[in-house]
Amino acid sequence: MAITHSSDSTTSVAADVLIVLMTDQHPFSGGIQHLDEALQGRITAAVERDDFDPQPKQLLTFFQAGGVAATNVVLTGVGNIGECDLRVMRQSLLAALRTCCQHADQKVAIAFDEAIIEKFSDATLAELAADSITSSPIDADLYRKERTRHAFAEGVLCLSGDAEALNTAITRGVITGEACGLVKDLVNCPASDLYPETFADKATAAAQGLNLELQILDEDDLQTERMGAMLAVAKGSVRPPRLVKIAYRGAASDQPMLGLVGKGVTFDSGGYSIKPSDGMIAMKSDMAGAATVLATVVAAARLQLPINVTGYLGLVENMISGNAYRLGDVLIARNGTTIEVHNTDAEGRLVLADVLSYAVDDGCTRLVDLATLTGACVVALGEEITGVFPGDRQLGDVLCAASEAVGELFWPMPMHEHFVPLLKSNVADCKNVGPRWGGAVTAAKFLQKFVGETPWVHLDIAGPSWADSGNAWQDAGATAVPVRSLIQFLEQ
Ligand code: BES
Ligand code: ZN
Ligand code: ZN
Repeated sequence: MAITHSSDSTTSVAADVLIVLMTDQHPFSGGIQHLDEALQGRITAAVERDDFDPQPKQLLTFFQAGGVAATNVVLTGVGNIGECDLRVMRQSLLAALRTCCQHADQKVAIAFDEAIIEKFSDATLAELAADSITSSPIDADLYRKERTRHAFAEGVLCLSGDAEALNTAITRGVITGEACGLVKDLVNCPASDLYPETFADKATAAAQGLNLELQILDEDDLQTERMGAMLAVAKGSVRPPRLVKIAYRGAASDQPMLGLVGKGVTFDSGGYSIKPSDGMIAMKSDMAGAATVLATVVAAARLQLPINVTGYLGLVENMISGNAYRLGDVLIARNGTTIEVHNTDAEGRLVLADVLSYAVDDGCTRLVDLATLTGACVVALGEEITGVFPGDRQLGDVLCAASEAVGELFWPMPMHEHFVPLLKSNVADCKNVGPRWGGAVTAAKFLQKFVGETPWVHLDIAGPSWADSGNAWQDAGATAVPVRSLIQFLEQ
């Protein structure tokens, strides 16, 4: 699929569908007025009749519009320009695009009201539009006989900034959109098809042809590494665990190495601390952290960023069997810490404990882990916000700034020391859960025991990585949050 930019106006750009983002400014800006005239005043009429209010995610569609070169025209509002941010823009644009990709082979054009271009710059809008055109057709219908959405055949962006800057922005947008697609496809894939071995195969396929070094550690390798915590979680499953290491070196070897560690529990039944059905139904998505890490490292390689980054995917299935780990078991983690198991459903932190200590010894100078770690974080922050647990304050601030730049929502959480004694065990160095209150923080403090002095931030994505129900801009299922923030973080 090709995405290009063009200085054609909204009335002269040829396309199956023209999408125009407009503010609620009245009277209309010059561009919208020009379009309205070509459409014989039908925008004015719709607004006057209250058929259309240009607020975020509101759509007005003219089929066989006439008077303009595009066949259909879709107007979408972004509301008041002062209050409109990138998140609103993305949601409005996705809402419009998703009504246009029911048919295959569509050529879509996108144009913006002048006030929007003034506020966000051509390059930002080009990246947003290219990302949205690429990612909007990818959704949860992996197993339907007929897919409900189709990739666009072509995209044209009505933007007239510096050509080279626009082309760079479009490339970045497409790569980001494809990273979102990879995350969504992995997270939406059921656990019967996506388990540690097949996840590792998909990582191998995604790394193909790129400047990436891939290493897959199997069960024997994990034994050799004495990863007693991760291996305990894996014991109940007939699917053996895997640790995938995927390294991108875009800078000299004496430059810092960032490690991204992803929780990759391909299914979380809870183990003997079994989940009720309504808590288990979405647990094929408990590998969203690993999927996001994989997609981010692949994007770094495709963007040829001048940095070094290594992804570590801790892949296991948390199941019940005669061989599964039990409550009261004492595990010896890779770094020698002994852990008494008080809840087999707090498995993610056991996996991360060993993978984090592996990443430290592997030479990472900074670490960020991504995990669908706790329901408590969703209670604290709701379903759309990523919890940021800043083991290192400065690194946490940089991550929050990156999220703001792309319109995703991050929020810092406390990391006070008084949470640590809540993890004391009567028989071992610690237990794997604390009391009910502050559950997201005790989980983070547990992880901190395994990173040593390395600057580290934990991101709890249990809420935002998955949507229980769909809406105008996204289907139910995987959301690909926070892959855009991570790519932006690497670019910064
Ligand atoms: N994978 C879950 C966390 C989760 C919950 C992710 C809801 C997405 C949506 C995790 O392994 C888990 O079960 N955590 C327990 C921890 C508890 C036993 C301390 C939880 O949150 O209940
Ligand atoms: Zn669990
Ligand atoms: Zn889990």
